[in-house]
Amino acid sequence: MAQFSNHRVLITGSGAGIGRLMAEKLAGHGAEVVVTARRIAAAREVVERIRNAGGRAHAYSLDVSKPGTLTKLRDQIHQELGPISILINNAGVVFGGEFEQVPLEKHLATFKVNSEGLMACTHTFMDDLIRAPRGHLVNIASASAFIGLPYGSSYAASKWAVVGFSESLRLELAERGIRNVKVTTVCPSYIATGMFKGVKAPMFSPMLTPDRVVESILRGISRGEAFVIEPPMARSVELLKGVLPRKLWDELARRTGVSTSMYSWKGKKKDE
Ligand SMILES: NC(=O)c1ccc[n+]([C@@H]2O[C@H](COP(=O)([O-])OP(=O)(O)OC[C@H]3O[C@@H](n4cnc5c(N)ncnc54)[C@H](OP(=O)(O)O)[C@@H]3O)[C@@H](O)[C@H]2O)c1
Repeated sequence: MAQFSNHRVLITGSGAGIGRLMAEKLAGHGAEVVVTARRIAAAREVVERIRNAGGRAHAYSLDVSKPGTLTKLRDQIHQELGPISILINNAGVVFGGEFEQVPLEKHLATFKVNSEGLMACTHTFMDDLIRAPRGHLVNIASASAFIGLPYGSSYAASKWAVVGFSESLRLELAERGIRNVKVTTVCPSYIATGMFKGVKAPMFSPMLTPDRVVESILRGISRGEAFVIEPPMARSVELLKGVLPRKLWDELARRTGVSTSMYSWKGKKKDE
């Protein structure tokens, strides 16, 4: 994966979880990484680890739910480093529970970060990607973008939006003859990062390790794949949903534990 050495990669929400791991691994493969996080201290910590390991990284503060700050940040990055060539829209939040028991602000915040924030970051940096010799947009969606997720309805809906946006943009770029920009949509099932602490992983889809998912994402970027879906079993969901009668599909989702997986969601505590 030596081809990353010519890339400047911006990752949103890379102070923790798979964002941080992607930053560290990409830097290990030679990329110059722009680590962004809501809390600058978290971004600086990641940058220090990368630099200590001999990699290239820079820390910036970015809250993707505040689109008004994006142009200024882009201009600052251009001035201090230059344009980026890979954008990884990774920042995400989830608030599980019975729909009406979860405060409306949390449902709306989920869209603000997962869908609108992702679109705003893409809009802000799209010109960078188009001007790069080899640009790449990576959108972290979720396997819940293929299914209904009881007790996680706003999260699933926000990720359905990501898949619709990402897939449409990939096709639009092809229609416009922009061949130097690839778009990869990432759809993993549950990953052990703490975001979904408390969930009961469904049958046939055990909790994934962050390492496995990140390796799979980097491979997908290298190969220019349109979709990265983990575990591979999750690829059959769309097919099954398409061919099975609705009642049978609903029953299958219930029996395999997909429909009840979020019931016991606890998520991260505030300081985790
Ligand atoms: N974990 C899973 O099971 C799973 C499965 C499928 C897809 N995903 C997706 O994978 C991505 C990474 O999740 P993860 O598992 O690594 O969970 P995580 O450890 O909770 O990481 C989420 C990251 O997003 C950041 N973030 C949240 N709101 C933000 C905002 N407004 N602006 C900027 N950054 C913000 C968080 O920063 P703070 O530390 O400041 O909160 C954190 O660094 C998310 O998009 C998630 O939806 C996760």
